[in-house]
Amino acid sequence: MIKVGILTSGGDCQGLNGAMYGVVKGLTETNKDKVEIYGILDGYTGLINGDYKKMKPEEFENILNFGGSILGNSRQPFKKINEPDENGKDKVEAMKHTYKELGLDCLVILGGNGTHKTANLLYKEGLNVVTLPKTIDNDLVGTDVSFGFQSAVDIATNTIDCIHTTAASHSRVFIVELMGHKTGWLTLHAGIAGGSDVILIPEIPYDLDKVVEAINKRINDKKHFTILAVAEGAISKDDAQLTKKQYKAKVASRRYPSVSYEIADQIQEKCGVEVRVAVPGHTQRGGSPCPYDRVLCTRLGSAAAQAIMDGKFGCMIAMINNKTKCVPLGEVAGKLKTVDPDSQMIQEAKRIGISFGD
Ligand code: F6P
Repeated sequence: MIKVGILTSGGDCQGLNGAMYGVVKGLTETNKDKVEIYGILDGYTGLINGDYKKMKPEEFENILNFGGSILGNSRQPFKKINEPDENGKDKVEAMKHTYKELGLDCLVILGGNGTHKTANLLYKEGLNVVTLPKTIDNDLVGTDVSFGFQSAVDIATNTIDCIHTTAASHSRVFIVELMGHKTGWLTLHAGIAGGSDVILIPEIPYDLDKVVEAINKRINDKKHFTILAVAEGAISKDDAQLTKKQYKAKVASRRYPSVSYEIADQIQEKCGVEVRVAVPGHTQRGGSPCPYDRVLCTRLGSAAAQAIMDGKFGCMIAMINNKTKCVPLGEVAGKLKTVDPDSQMIQEAKRIGISFGD
């Protein structure tokens, strides 16, 4: 009998249920009576508090196309993982305790960046861990793509498409602010797919004068509207010079809800045109996974099942050149995959006239 625990950690995204479906089907399709599955509720919080339930393989059926996670999600920031919780509990010891109490042979962890740091820590503490890369931010090192990303790109692109028609009718400048945390993958892909005129991402700090130049050029070319795709982490050239601490303080004292509103005000002042901001926010993480993500998460989940059966632990199941691969957690944890400002994709976008404000 093998006992497998499974949890979904960090922010949710499309494909979590599908990946669990892949893992559980992969483990039980031919060995149904030899596998016990334990669903750990609400991510690491459930592991800390011993909140889990034994689940039948059938409970993971018919969920491939459902968004969210049937197990629930929560954030347990890695930087506080060694601090006691509100009840004075040692979180790492509590997680190890739950694992041992259940007699698990393996813990499958679905998560993004922070999740992988904790997963690596648990592995180093002696737990058999296999992880799966989920994040709409696509910022995990070691895999070409994470599930959730393509679905979020679809939603973000659809938002830009919808903004396109209203921007054209009203001859307005529109900013669509997209998620992505510290990286610009989502904004870059949706920005290009949606035909944005300006794309601002954290990896390419912007100069407001260049942004204004791009808008004025369109006005002079008799193009009466402009669409900017702005990443939530977009940063100006000046702000990029600040230390992390100074920048944090500046953001905390900013009178705008986010960077896009500040840019909107600045553009309005400099160009004298009407600017509107649209923020799709968490819709980008919601709803059903797109077909690409359904295939991706099913394949990754199935490959995780194989890794478990082979006794390969301490790794993330990645997709590299369309092949699934076990990548050691040490090569993933604590690293950020960012957009290369000199990449072909950026050059190609620039060639067709997209401004990155640099
Ligand atoms: O990491 C996924 C993500 O959606 C980021 O793009 C975003 O910055 C963050 O999570 C939002 O976090 P929360 O759901 O906690 O508001």
